[in-house]
Amino acid sequence: MSVERCKIVDLPKISDPRGNLTFIESNRHVPFDIKRVYYLYDVPGGSERGGHAHKALTQLIVAMAGSFDVRIDDGHQKRVFHLNRSYYGLLITPMIWRELDNFSSGSVCMVLASNLYDEDDYYRDYNTYLAQVRRS
Ligand code: TYD
Repeated sequence: MSVERCKIVDLPKISDPRGNLTFIESNRHVPFDIKRVYYLYDVPGGSERGGHAHKALTQLIVAMAGSFDVRIDDGHQKRVFHLNRSYYGLLITPMIWRELDNFSSGSVCMVLASNLYDEDDYYRDYNTYLAQVRRS
């Protein structure tokens, strides 16, 4: 999978003087059935998260509050996305190495995932990941 296939998804935003509303539906705003939701919060300044790739998982990452950077890498090409709006999601396809950093204070990173948690779906070693993507 190429980083070119990863993209910003412009989520619906219902603007309202009482406060804005955004929604995400399976197979409409994300190209999968949402099987799991998790979020990172209380991230200390200077922390890095991620540092892995998934064999089959597709994810949508949303900055629900604050901002952070998502660095993606397919073994050939790298891209960096700065997420800072709760109506933008970053779609990450399978077999993409990702690292998250530059978390602002109070930021919340929500992830919608196409599958339940499965440690066997991870590449946690960059060289093992690189060897796999450069072989295929
Ligand atoms: P990890 O995916 O490495 O976190 P991140 O990519 O956000 O830095 O997961 C960190 C720990 O949490 C690891 O021990 C596995 C566990 N975990 C679950 O048990 N369930 C989950 O859905 C996720 C995402 C992680």
